[in-house]
Amino acid sequence: MEAVIAVIGAGTMGAAIALLFANAGFEVTLVDKSRGALRRAEDRHRGESLEELEEAGLRKQDNPASLITYTTELRVYECDFIVEAIVERLRDKIELFRKIEEINSPAVLATNTSSFMPSEIARHLANPERLTLFHFSNPPILMPLVEVGGEIVSDETVERAVEMAKSIGKEPVVLRKECRGHVLNRMLAAAGVAVGYCLLYSRPEEIDAALRNLGMRYGFFETIDLIGLDVAKDVLESFREYYGDKYRGIRAMDFFMEKMVEWGKLGKKSGEGFYKWDGRRASIPE
Ligand code: NAI
Repeated sequence: MEAVIAVIGAGTMGAAIALLFANAGFEVTLVDKSRGALRRAEDRHRGESLEELEEAGLRKQDNPASLITYTTELRVYECDFIVEAIVERLRDKIELFRKIEEINSPAVLATNTSSFMPSEIARHLANPERLTLFHFSNPPILMPLVEVGGEIVSDETVERAVEMAKSIGKEPVVLRKECRGHVLNRMLAAAGVAVGYCLLYSRPEEIDAALRNLGMRYGFFETIDLIGLDVAKDVLESFREYYGDKYRGIRAMDFFMEKMVEWGKLGKKSGEGFYKWDGRRASIPE
Protein backbone atom coordinates (compact mmCIF):
# COMPACT_ATOMS: atom_id res chain seq x y z
CA MET A 1 0.00 0.00 0.00
CA GLU A 2 1.38 3.42 -1.00
CA ALA A 3 1.14 6.18 1.61
CA VAL A 4 3.24 8.91 3.14
CA ILE A 5 2.76 9.16 6.89
CA ALA A 6 3.11 11.98 9.40
CA VAL A 7 3.02 11.45 13.14
CA ILE A 8 2.67 14.58 15.28
CA GLY A 9 4.01 14.23 18.82
CA ALA A 10 7.17 12.20 19.43
CA GLY A 11 6.54 11.17 23.05
CA THR A 12 5.80 7.73 24.48
CA MET A 13 3.17 6.97 21.83
CA GLY A 14 4.08 9.02 18.75
CA ALA A 15 7.68 7.77 18.66
CA ALA A 16 6.53 4.14 18.72
CA ILE A 17 3.75 4.72 16.18
CA ALA A 18 6.20 6.38 13.77
CA LEU A 19 8.54 3.41 14.11
CA LEU A 20 5.74 0.92 13.45
CA PHE A 21 4.97 2.68 10.16
CA ALA A 22 8.64 2.93 9.16
CA ASN A 23 9.14 -0.74 10.02
CA ALA A 24 6.30 -1.57 7.62
CA GLY A 25 8.19 0.30 4.88
CA PHE A 26 6.34 3.65 4.88
CA GLU A 27 8.10 6.97 4.59
CA VAL A 28 7.38 8.86 7.84
CA THR A 29 7.71 12.44 9.04
CA LEU A 30 7.82 12.64 12.85
CA VAL A 31 6.99 16.12 14.17
CA ASP A 32 7.40 17.46 17.70
CA LYS A 33 7.71 21.00 19.00
CA SER A 34 10.47 19.79 21.31
CA ARG A 35 13.90 18.95 19.87
CA GLY A 36 14.65 16.94 23.02
CA ALA A 37 11.60 14.73 22.41
CA LEU A 38 12.75 14.10 18.81
CA ARG A 39 16.23 13.21 20.01
CA ARG A 40 14.87 10.79 22.61
CA ALA A 41 12.57 9.25 19.98
CA GLU A 42 15.50 8.71 17.64
CA ASP A 43 17.51 7.08 20.44
CA ARG A 44 14.65 4.70 21.15
CA HIS A 45 14.32 3.94 17.43
CA ARG A 46 17.91 2.74 17.39
CA GLY A 47 17.69 0.82 20.68
CA GLU A 48 14.86 -0.44 22.84
CA SER A 49 12.10 -0.06 20.21
CA LEU A 50 13.98 -2.46 17.93
CA GLU A 51 13.99 -5.02 20.76
CA GLU A 52 10.23 -4.54 21.09
CA LEU A 53 9.73 -5.07 17.34
CA GLU A 54 11.67 -8.34 17.64
CA GLU A 55 9.67 -9.41 20.69
CA ALA A 56 6.39 -8.63 18.92
CA GLY A 57 7.55 -10.64 15.89
CA LEU A 58 7.04 -7.54 13.73
CA ARG A 59 10.63 -6.64 12.74
CA LYS A 60 10.84 -6.12 8.97
CA GLN A 61 13.47 -3.43 8.40
CA ASP A 62 17.13 -3.47 9.45
CA ASN A 63 17.10 0.22 10.17
CA PRO A 64 13.55 1.60 10.20
CA ALA A 65 14.78 4.97 11.55
CA SER A 66 16.33 5.63 8.13
CA LEU A 67 12.78 6.02 6.76
CA ILE A 68 11.89 8.67 9.36
CA THR A 69 12.44 12.43 9.05
CA TYR A 70 12.59 14.07 12.48
CA THR A 71 11.46 17.70 12.48
CA THR A 72 10.03 20.53 14.58
CA GLU A 73 8.16 21.91 11.56
CA LEU A 74 4.65 20.85 10.69
CA ARG A 75 5.76 19.39 7.32
CA VAL A 76 2.63 17.52 6.35
CA TYR A 77 1.97 18.88 2.83
CA GLU A 78 2.68 15.62 1.02
CA CYS A 79 1.30 13.22 3.61
CA ASP A 80 -1.85 11.20 3.10
CA PHE A 81 -2.22 9.69 6.58
CA ILE A 82 -1.58 11.93 9.59
CA VAL A 83 -1.60 10.57 13.14
CA GLU A 84 -1.85 13.00 16.04
CA ALA A 85 -0.25 11.92 19.35
CA ILE A 86 0.26 15.22 21.19
CA VAL A 87 -0.68 16.14 24.76
CA GLU A 88 -4.16 15.06 25.95
CA ARG A 89 -5.78 18.50 25.84
CA LEU A 90 -8.82 19.02 23.66
CA ARG A 91 -8.01 22.64 22.80
CA ASP A 92 -4.49 21.75 21.67
CA LYS A 93 -5.74 18.89 19.50
CA ILE A 94 -8.41 21.05 17.81
CA GLU A 95 -5.89 23.83 17.17
CA LEU A 96 -3.40 21.36 15.65
CA PHE A 97 -5.94 19.69 13.35
CA ARG A 98 -7.21 23.08 12.18
CA LYS A 99 -3.65 24.03 11.24
CA ILE A 100 -3.16 20.70 9.47
CA GLU A 101 -6.39 21.19 7.52
CA GLU A 102 -5.15 24.57 6.26
CA ILE A 103 -2.00 22.90 4.94
CA ASN A 104 -3.40 19.60 3.73
CA SER A 105 -7.15 19.06 3.44
CA PRO A 106 -7.35 15.70 1.61
CA ALA A 107 -5.30 13.64 4.10
CA VAL A 108 -6.88 11.16 6.50
CA LEU A 109 -6.62 12.60 10.01
CA ALA A 110 -6.20 10.11 12.84
CA THR A 111 -6.20 10.88 16.55
CA ASN A 112 -4.59 8.75 19.24
CA THR A 113 -6.58 10.54 21.96
CA SER A 114 -7.00 8.42 25.10
CA SER A 115 -10.18 9.99 26.28
CA PHE A 116 -11.83 12.52 23.97
CA MET A 117 -14.53 11.45 21.55
CA PRO A 118 -13.28 11.92 17.99
CA SER A 119 -16.34 14.03 17.11
CA GLU A 120 -15.41 16.48 19.90
CA ILE A 121 -12.40 17.31 17.72
CA ALA A 122 -13.89 16.67 14.27
CA ARG A 123 -16.84 19.02 14.62
CA HIS A 124 -14.42 21.97 14.69
CA LEU A 125 -12.99 21.04 11.26
CA ALA A 126 -14.04 21.89 7.72
CA ASN A 127 -14.02 18.18 6.77
CA PRO A 128 -15.11 16.33 9.92
CA GLU A 129 -15.69 13.07 8.03
CA ARG A 130 -11.90 12.76 7.50
CA LEU A 131 -11.05 12.45 11.19
CA THR A 132 -10.98 9.02 12.80
CA LEU A 133 -10.09 7.63 16.17
CA PHE A 134 -6.80 5.70 15.92
CA HIS A 135 -6.09 4.76 19.52
CA PHE A 136 -3.18 2.48 20.31
CA SER A 137 -2.64 0.60 23.52
CA ASN A 138 0.61 1.01 25.47
CA PRO A 139 3.29 -0.25 24.79
CA PRO A 140 2.15 0.32 21.20
CA ILE A 141 4.75 -1.90 19.57
CA LEU A 142 3.83 -4.89 21.74
CA MET A 143 0.07 -4.52 22.18
CA PRO A 144 -2.06 -5.43 19.15
CA LEU A 145 -5.15 -3.26 19.73
CA VAL A 146 -6.00 -0.09 17.79
CA GLU A 147 -9.47 1.39 18.42
CA VAL A 148 -10.72 3.05 15.21
CA GLY A 149 -13.86 4.95 14.20
CA GLY A 150 -16.27 7.57 15.48
CA GLU A 151 -19.81 8.77 14.89
CA ILE A 152 -19.22 11.33 12.15
CA VAL A 153 -16.25 9.88 10.30
CA SER A 154 -16.95 8.50 6.79
CA ASP A 155 -16.91 4.77 6.03
CA GLU A 156 -14.13 5.41 3.54
CA THR A 157 -11.92 7.00 6.21
CA VAL A 158 -12.60 4.17 8.67
CA GLU A 159 -11.74 1.58 6.01
CA ARG A 160 -8.49 3.36 5.28
CA ALA A 161 -7.60 3.50 8.99
CA VAL A 162 -8.37 -0.20 9.39
CA GLU A 163 -6.14 -1.02 6.40
CA MET A 164 -3.33 1.13 7.79
CA ALA A 165 -3.54 -0.47 11.25
CA LYS A 166 -3.42 -3.95 9.70
CA SER A 167 -0.50 -2.99 7.46
CA ILE A 168 1.63 -2.26 10.57
CA GLY A 169 0.70 -5.56 12.22
CA LYS A 170 -2.10 -4.33 14.51
CA GLU A 171 -5.59 -5.65 15.21
CA PRO A 172 -8.06 -2.78 14.75
CA VAL A 173 -11.47 -2.75 16.41
CA VAL A 174 -14.05 -0.42 14.86
CA LEU A 175 -16.13 1.57 17.37
CA ARG A 176 -18.92 3.50 15.67
CA LYS A 177 -20.53 4.71 18.90
CA GLU A 178 -18.46 7.13 20.91
CA CYS A 179 -17.82 7.66 24.59
CA ARG A 180 -15.01 9.35 26.45
CA GLY A 181 -12.27 6.77 27.00
CA HIS A 182 -13.54 4.50 24.19
CA VAL A 183 -13.64 0.89 25.47
CA LEU A 184 -10.13 0.29 26.75
CA ASN A 185 -9.72 3.35 28.94
CA ARG A 186 -13.21 3.16 30.40
CA MET A 187 -12.31 -0.37 31.50
CA LEU A 188 -9.01 0.85 32.88
CA ALA A 189 -10.69 3.73 34.73
CA ALA A 190 -13.19 1.32 36.31
CA ALA A 191 -10.30 -0.97 37.28
CA GLY A 192 -8.57 2.07 38.79
CA VAL A 193 -11.46 2.58 41.21
CA ALA A 194 -11.33 -1.08 42.35
CA VAL A 195 -7.56 -1.09 42.56
CA GLY A 196 -7.66 2.03 44.75
CA TYR A 197 -9.61 0.09 47.41
CA CYS A 198 -7.09 -2.79 47.24
CA LEU A 199 -4.37 -0.23 47.91
CA LEU A 200 -5.82 0.26 51.39
CA TYR A 201 -4.45 -3.17 52.37
CA SER A 202 -2.00 -4.31 49.62
CA ARG A 203 1.11 -2.95 47.97
CA PRO A 204 1.11 -2.01 44.24
CA GLU A 205 3.36 -4.94 43.30
CA GLU A 206 1.08 -7.39 45.19
CA ILE A 207 -1.98 -6.06 43.37
CA ASP A 208 -0.13 -6.28 40.04
CA ALA A 209 0.90 -9.90 40.73
CA ALA A 210 -2.73 -10.78 41.39
CA LEU A 211 -3.87 -9.02 38.20
CA ARG A 212 -1.26 -10.80 36.08
CA ASN A 213 -2.81 -14.02 37.34
CA LEU A 214 -5.99 -12.94 35.53
CA GLY A 215 -4.03 -13.11 32.28
CA MET A 216 -3.15 -9.41 32.06
CA ARG A 217 0.27 -8.88 30.48
CA TYR A 218 0.96 -5.92 32.77
CA GLY A 219 -0.45 -5.19 36.20
CA PHE A 220 -2.43 -2.00 36.84
CA PHE A 221 0.43 0.00 38.38
CA GLU A 222 2.90 -1.19 35.74
CA THR A 223 0.41 0.01 33.14
CA ILE A 224 0.13 3.44 34.78
CA ASP A 225 3.95 3.65 34.84
CA LEU A 226 4.06 2.80 31.13
CA ILE A 227 1.33 5.32 30.32
CA GLY A 228 3.05 8.04 32.37
CA LEU A 229 1.50 9.50 35.51
CA ASP A 230 1.24 12.94 33.87
CA VAL A 231 -0.73 11.50 30.94
CA ALA A 232 -2.89 9.36 33.28
CA LYS A 233 -3.69 12.52 35.27
CA ASP A 234 -4.77 14.38 32.10
CA VAL A 235 -6.97 11.43 31.14
CA LEU A 236 -8.56 11.32 34.60
CA GLU A 237 -9.23 15.06 34.41
CA SER A 238 -10.97 14.57 31.07
CA PHE A 239 -13.05 11.76 32.65
CA ARG A 240 -13.98 13.90 35.68
CA GLU A 241 -15.01 16.81 33.47
CA TYR A 242 -17.35 14.52 31.54
CA TYR A 243 -18.45 11.78 33.98
CA GLY A 244 -18.26 13.69 37.26
CA ASP A 245 -17.42 11.40 40.19
CA LYS A 246 -18.32 8.14 38.44
CA TYR A 247 -14.66 7.14 38.13
CA ARG A 248 -13.48 8.63 41.39
CA GLY A 249 -11.90 6.03 43.69
CA ILE A 250 -10.32 6.61 47.06
CA ARG A 251 -9.13 10.19 47.60
CA ALA A 252 -5.71 8.97 48.77
CA MET A 253 -5.02 7.56 45.30
CA ASP A 254 -5.73 10.95 43.65
CA PHE A 255 -3.55 12.69 46.21
CA PHE A 256 -0.74 10.20 45.73
CA MET A 257 -0.82 10.52 41.94
CA GLU A 258 -0.82 14.34 42.13
CA LYS A 259 2.20 14.26 44.40
CA MET A 260 4.08 11.81 42.19
CA VAL A 261 3.60 14.10 39.17
CA GLU A 262 4.74 17.07 41.28
CA TRP A 263 7.88 15.11 42.32
CA GLY A 264 8.62 14.17 38.69
CA LYS A 265 7.96 10.45 39.30
CA LEU A 266 6.21 9.99 35.98
CA GLY A 267 6.81 6.25 35.51
CA LYS A 268 9.02 4.58 32.91
CA LYS A 269 9.75 7.81 31.05
CA SER A 270 11.36 9.46 34.10
CA GLY A 271 12.94 6.25 35.48
CA GLU A 272 10.61 5.96 38.48
CA GLY A 273 6.90 5.81 39.23
CA PHE A 274 5.26 3.03 41.19
CA TYR A 275 8.31 0.99 40.07
CA LYS A 276 11.96 1.83 39.32
CA TRP A 277 12.77 1.49 35.62
CA ASP A 278 16.02 0.55 33.95
CA GLY A 279 15.19 0.70 30.25
CA ARG A 280 12.35 -1.76 29.86
CA ARG A 281 12.96 -3.52 33.20
CA ALA A 282 10.83 -2.65 36.21
CA SER A 283 11.89 -3.36 39.79
CA ILE A 284 10.25 -2.69 43.14
CA PRO A 285 11.52 0.52 44.82
CA GLU A 286 13.12 0.11 48.28
P1 NAI B 1 3.93 12.41 25.83
O1 NAI B 1 3.78 13.47 26.86
O2 NAI B 1 4.91 11.32 26.04
O3 NAI B 1 4.26 13.08 24.41
C1 NAI B 1 3.53 14.14 23.86
C2 NAI B 1 4.46 14.87 22.91
O4 NAI B 1 3.68 15.81 22.16
C3 NAI B 1 5.56 15.67 23.62
O5 NAI B 1 6.83 15.27 23.12
C4 NAI B 1 5.25 17.13 23.28
O6 NAI B 1 6.42 17.91 23.10
C5 NAI B 1 4.49 16.98 21.98
N1 NAI B 1 3.57 18.08 21.66
C6 NAI B 1 2.66 18.65 22.47
N2 NAI B 1 1.95 19.58 21.78
C7 NAI B 1 2.43 19.58 20.51
C8 NAI B 1 2.12 20.29 19.32
N3 NAI B 1 1.12 21.18 19.31
N4 NAI B 1 2.82 20.03 18.19
C9 NAI B 1 3.82 19.11 18.20
N5 NAI B 1 4.17 18.41 19.30
C10 NAI B 1 3.48 18.63 20.43
O7 NAI B 1 2.46 11.83 25.62
P2 NAI B 1 2.03 10.37 25.10
O8 NAI B 1 1.95 9.48 26.25
O9 NAI B 1 2.83 10.00 23.92
O10 NAI B 1 0.51 10.68 24.66
C11 NAI B 1 0.22 11.34 23.46
C12 NAI B 1 -1.25 11.14 23.13
O11 NAI B 1 -1.53 9.75 23.04
C13 NAI B 1 -2.21 11.70 24.20
O12 NAI B 1 -3.37 12.13 23.56
C14 NAI B 1 -2.48 10.49 25.05
O13 NAI B 1 -3.68 10.58 25.75
C15 NAI B 1 -2.54 9.40 23.98
N6 NAI B 1 -2.29 8.05 24.44
C16 NAI B 1 -1.35 7.82 25.40
C17 NAI B 1 -1.11 6.54 25.83
C18 NAI B 1 -0.09 6.26 26.85
O14 NAI B 1 -0.08 5.14 27.36
N7 NAI B 1 0.80 7.18 27.21
C19 NAI B 1 -1.86 5.39 25.28
C20 NAI B 1 -2.75 5.72 24.19
C21 NAI B 1 -2.96 7.03 23.84
